[in-house]
Amino acid sequence: MPADSIRTDAAPVEVRLADYAPPAYLVDTVDLTFELGETATMVVSKLSVRRNPAAPDDAPLHLDGEALTLVDVTCNGAPVTPVETRDGLTITDVPATAVLEITTSLTPIANTEFSGLYVSGGNYYTQCEAQGFRRITYFPDRPDVMSRYTTTIIADKAACPVMLSNGNPGPVKDLGDGRHGITWTDPHPKPCYLFALVAGDLVSVKDSFTTRSGRHVDLAIYVRRGDEDRCAHAMQALKTSMAWDEQVFGLEYDLDVFNIAAVSDFNMGAMENKGLNVFNTKYVLARPETATDVDYQGIETVIAHEYFHNWTGNRVTCRDWFQLSLKEGLTVYRDQEFSADQSSRAVKRIGDVRGLRAAQFREDAGPLAHPVQPSAYMAIDNFYTATVYNKGAEVIRMMATIIGRQAFRRGMDLYFARHDNQAVTIDDFVQAMQDASGVDLTAFKRWYHQAGTPDVSVEDSYDAAAKRYTLTISQETKPTPGQPEKLPLVIPVAMGLLDGNGQELATRLEGEAAAKPGTRVLLATQATNRFEFVDVASPPVPSLLRDFSAPVKLSGLSPERLRFLAAHDTDPFVRWDSGQQVAASVLLDMVATFQQGRQPGVDPALFEAVGSLLDQEPAFAAEALALPGESTLADKMTVVDVDAIHTARDRARTAIGQALYDRLRATYDRLSDTGPYRIDGASIGRRSLRNGCLSYLVASGDAAAVRLAKAQFDAGQNMTDVLAALGILSGVDCPERLDALAAFYQAWRHDPLVLDKWFAIQALSPLPDTVQAVQALKAHADFDLRNPNRIRALISSFAGNQVRFHDPSGAGYRLYADTIIQLDPTNGQVAARMVSPLGQWRRYDAARQALMKQELQRILDLPNLSRNTFEMASKSLA
Ligand code: TRP
Ligand code: ZN
Repeated sequence: MPADSIRTDAAPVEVRLADYAPPAYLVDTVDLTFELGETATMVVSKLSVRRNPAAPDDAPLHLDGEALTLVDVTCNGAPVTPVETRDGLTITDVPATAVLEITTSLTPIANTEFSGLYVSGGNYYTQCEAQGFRRITYFPDRPDVMSRYTTTIIADKAACPVMLSNGNPGPVKDLGDGRHGITWTDPHPKPCYLFALVAGDLVSVKDSFTTRSGRHVDLAIYVRRGDEDRCAHAMQALKTSMAWDEQVFGLEYDLDVFNIAAVSDFNMGAMENKGLNVFNTKYVLARPETATDVDYQGIETVIAHEYFHNWTGNRVTCRDWFQLSLKEGLTVYRDQEFSADQSSRAVKRIGDVRGLRAAQFREDAGPLAHPVQPSAYMAIDNFYTATVYNKGAEVIRMMATIIGRQAFRRGMDLYFARHDNQAVTIDDFVQAMQDASGVDLTAFKRWYHQAGTPDVSVEDSYDAAAKRYTLTISQETKPTPGQPEKLPLVIPVAMGLLDGNGQELATRLEGEAAAKPGTRVLLATQATNRFEFVDVASPPVPSLLRDFSAPVKLSGLSPERLRFLAAHDTDPFVRWDSGQQVAASVLLDMVATFQQGRQPGVDPALFEAVGSLLDQEPAFAAEALALPGESTLADKMTVVDVDAIHTARDRARTAIGQALYDRLRATYDRLSDTGPYRIDGASIGRRSLRNGCLSYLVASGDAAAVRLAKAQFDAGQNMTDVLAALGILSGVDCPERLDALAAFYQAWRHDPLVLDKWFAIQALSPLPDTVQAVQALKAHADFDLRNPNRIRALISSFAGNQVRFHDPSGAGYRLYADTIIQLDPTNGQVAARMVSPLGQWRRYDAARQALMKQELQRILDLPNLSRNTFEMASKSLA
């Protein structure tokens, strides 16, 4: 039986939050037995069910099922004949308490969707979030059904020396027939989306951790043979995360083992299954020769994220999938705070805000805009979005800012005290924060329901005679699909006032007693709020949205003031952001000049600004040195001019490289003595600034700089420096480019994660023949349409290459849509997640709009399109 998802001929129906009803039956225990085989796996599931007192007492029992072969069902030992529905089984007349036994048969080898039980590299893995458990057995596949699980795995001893599931393991028993078995017991009730099974010929790296209260926990990371030497960083990150959650939130681990299994075929980053996290290899495996600093940081963050889910997601879970941000927004907030504590808080925040703007602000501005708590979906997999995750994290952060850190911690404690082992709602979380702090959060909750990024503008005036300073903050949110009318939000504006020398002034509002200099928080709650500051000694420059205290777009400060803030603010985020805004307006002025048919010069102030960064703290300087990206500039234009943006940015980079050549070279040399590879924040900062300098040096057009980049590539110090050099070379039409690409391929062709980088770098090249190059790479023997990492490396990276993806011929769009069309029949989840770049059509010129819409239509016209891709393509075209 093909393991494909439900296909649709008519438009699929929406699931709506308003229709939530509790389940008719609860399942107290689940006893699973798997007899593993690649072509035939037998699953016996014994459920002790009980009528839910909270549901009407005549409702039948519904069990979800998808792509399953039903072998047998009994109820209290007697055969029953269930009604097979489109999405599962309905069984009537089940007594108030009963034991159901269901036998299903699966074909894991044919499962190309990587949802349910599948085979990768000869080993077995499961993925059950959001609705994969129904592809293993018939079950009420909804998170408000929480059960205690025991899982018995029976498998061939040679093929599966390792057999893992949730909870604590029992002994391995030899079954005498070449097979062996094990039973895992998970004492904690959990929803079925947290079920996991991993089995196969894997090796492990082991360690241990003792919790604050003395529980000894065996830690293990399971990988394919040969990858053992790439697990140290993940293991270290795990132990650091475990200690951090104890220190910062008082949360301890609650089982005797914590296992991680890495798999190279995985739809997402990683999965927080209870006691058995399953990870994309990308977020586990690292050695300095194979992984970049960014990879190392990604591993640390994702390991922490999944570990933190043990409390925020697993012990307290979601009532239904509309509450997804309850676990994801909160857990992203927690992993961000963790990572901030591991290195530079400011640089971490800058990176997070960069990501938020690139992914979430763009989502909020397009046809797929939705609130942090959506009210309807067709396919829940489509809602694992930047809005639910990253804006969700910003909403949590704003609550912490408004009620204060200590009250936030009390709110977390109260949340766990009230809701441990429950499936709850976002409202329950906010209620705990409100009760712990005494702050009324009713109006604040609008952030969860209203989509769109608020535009916040400021005006101010200073009365020298009265020493009064007036700051007016206005907000407006533009309509989004389905939400024409927007209301004001509660926006925390962290701010300070600077005098002409960049010293902090006291910020005392009229009517307040005390005044002290430094950051304070203003709450903007209306369409317009006026704040009157008294005793302001000299005309201030306002420093607003410090540490990016709210996910809004801020405008209203003059270029002079932005330059001043970029040079003088005490808040590093505002310093960085102001500098980026100044650079963006210089570049957009150049774009405008091009559009008038004239050739722009480059504002020399830009050279000065970049030059002054070279002596600053390297990690910060590297962030500030980089000009706003082409997509960032595009986001600021009503009609995106991809070519003018590309040319303007290129010219500015060349001009900077030429004007500052000697200083850039001196900085590069000064940072060259890096010693052995270390991954602390300072070392990462040095590499990052040095590579930033190299990039400008090559942009200058000097052939010696190209040779310098090639020398850095050849030196092969570590993947960070090698890949930075390769990325720079791949943007220049020179012989070194081809040599380097060929050498890299030869060196790494047998290493999938590194080979992904080789594909990605070529897809990101700004050279004019990139569309053809990507087309050719799609036909390369190492391209594999079944592997999500490889697709993302080549095809999704290409969609991020603004100037080449938007090639006026439409060839980029066609190649992109072709891939979605080829992928959808075997992996609708990943195909659907690729649609959104085409949905940006409204922002381009008429010719490109027509080409992009044509591709969306071509996708929609397919017979048997997956429900996932149907939802994304139809909404994108609307
Ligand atoms: N819960 C996972 C996380 O954020 C996300 C995830 C992993 C997921 N695999 C998935 C979501 C498959 C949907 C489908 O950590
Ligand atoms: Zn998560």
